[in-house]
Amino acid sequence: MKKHSTSFVILAAGMGKRMKSSIPKVLHPIAGQPMILYLLDSIFSNRKIFNLDKIVIVTGHGAELVENVIGKYSKEIEFVRQSRQTGTANAVLSTSSSFTKKYDDSNIVVLCGDAPLLDIKGLADFTKTRLNNNLGIIAFRTNNPYGYGRVIEDKDGFAKKIVEENEANMEEKESKLCNSGALIGKAKYIFKFVSDIENNNEGKEKYLTDIVSLANEEDKKVYIIESDELKCKGINDRVALSMVEKDIQNKLRNEAMKNGASLLDPETVYFSNDTIIGKDVVIGPNVYFGKGVVIEDEVIIHPFSHLEGVHIKSKATIGPFARLRPDTVIGEGSKVGNFVEIKKSTIQSGTKINHLSYVGDSDIGINVNIGAGVITCNYDGKKKNKTKIKDDSFIGSNVSLVAPVKVGKNAVIGAGSVITKDVPDGSLSVERSKQVNLKKKNQKNSKNQDKNTE
Ligand code: UD1
Ligand code: CA
Repeated sequence: MKKHSTSFVILAAGMGKRMKSSIPKVLHPIAGQPMILYLLDSIFSNRKIFNLDKIVIVTGHGAELVENVIGKYSKEIEFVRQSRQTGTANAVLSTSSSFTKKYDDSNIVVLCGDAPLLDIKGLADFTKTRLNNNLGIIAFRTNNPYGYGRVIEDKDGFAKKIVEENEANMEEKESKLCNSGALIGKAKYIFKFVSDIENNNEGKEKYLTDIVSLANEEDKKVYIIESDELKCKGINDRVALSMVEKDIQNKLRNEAMKNGASLLDPETVYFSNDTIIGKDVVIGPNVYFGKGVVIEDEVIIHPFSHLEGVHIKSKATIGPFARLRPDTVIGEGSKVGNFVEIKKSTIQSGTKINHLSYVGDSDIGINVNIGAGVITCNYDGKKKNKTKIKDDSFIGSNVSLVAPVKVGKNAVIGAGSVITKDVPDGSLSVERSKQVNLKKKNQKNSKNQDKNTE
């Protein structure tokens, strides 16, 4: 165990009943990322200032799913299962075997997995200056305290007790100072007090918040570290989830603009937390960025485009109404136009796919022209097959490329062809039946009859 270290305990075992969901609450995404991972991002990015020892996450409801998602994010996390969700104090107590005697004098920060934006940085300073043998909580002031535990202060501004909403009397309910759910103290005190907590309340739950009055009884101070409401927001239902999402979206939009992108109607653009946007990028209204999108400099994205897992190189133009799906690379200066869908494909520089096409499982070279309505028929009902088109080729409108198929360099394919065989370099391929012009039956004595059709 590291000297003067801090460990984190994150509570994530609850049912999340108010979400009315089959997905465990802490996995509900915000800007595409499960909410609990925001806390982990924040802990890992501050690991040095905390001298981080370990992170223990308490799971219960949907434990396997939660552990699986978090396990993919980091191998450093320890999980403890809380067999029955009998309250936040019981959840903390269930981690006691992870904090053996040698942890007694190290710090533990307890966080709620459903308060993902909490600013933990301030706690690091606090541990060095004021914590000693006391406790600390993060609290915030709000005009809408409904649902939060109210923090009752003593005359010196320390926390005397925390009263949960359903236990609070009228006067206590008036308090605008709310508990964020974050608690810090030395391991030996946290586990001592937590094991003394009882369930003398309406719901017969063991409330972690009772730790504050127990600490006071033993003459320990409970410091209040104030933070702001948005950072402390706890997500209990989908309304709160949408409020936090809105806040994060605003941050992501502002960041993109500060980094040199123009958003023509910012409020309508949706980002994921990992979207990377370069300089002098112009983004039209109603554009959606799913996970894993990288946009290089000077790209233009016209309205109503839907992008996910795609890397767009500089000076390319996308949309309007383009759908770019995962594992796609769009080359420098290329153009992807309206009602074009591209999936798992690499498009090199200077290529144009301007209208109504589907390109899937394809490698397309430099300066290729893909006409309107071209379809790569990549699926034969059993497996996906590849289409390769080399540099400078011209694919006429409405061509079907039945994969697997290769088109050589500088080739031309006539409009409407159904291409089932490879097309060699430099050739002109046409696959369609000969046109016939027939005499219309009701056209008597016409002088302009086509002799071929008589
Ligand atoms: C809790 C606090 C409240 C605070 C609010 C901040 C308590 C008793 N109340 O209330 O003072 O204002 O958070 O958002 O602590 N959990 C478990 N095991 C359990 C019960 C809960 O792991 O047996 C987890 C939940 O998954 C959740 C967290 O603990 O991540 C908080 O539980 P929740 O039921 O949401 O508490 P609140 O009523 O929001
Ligand atoms: Ca909560």
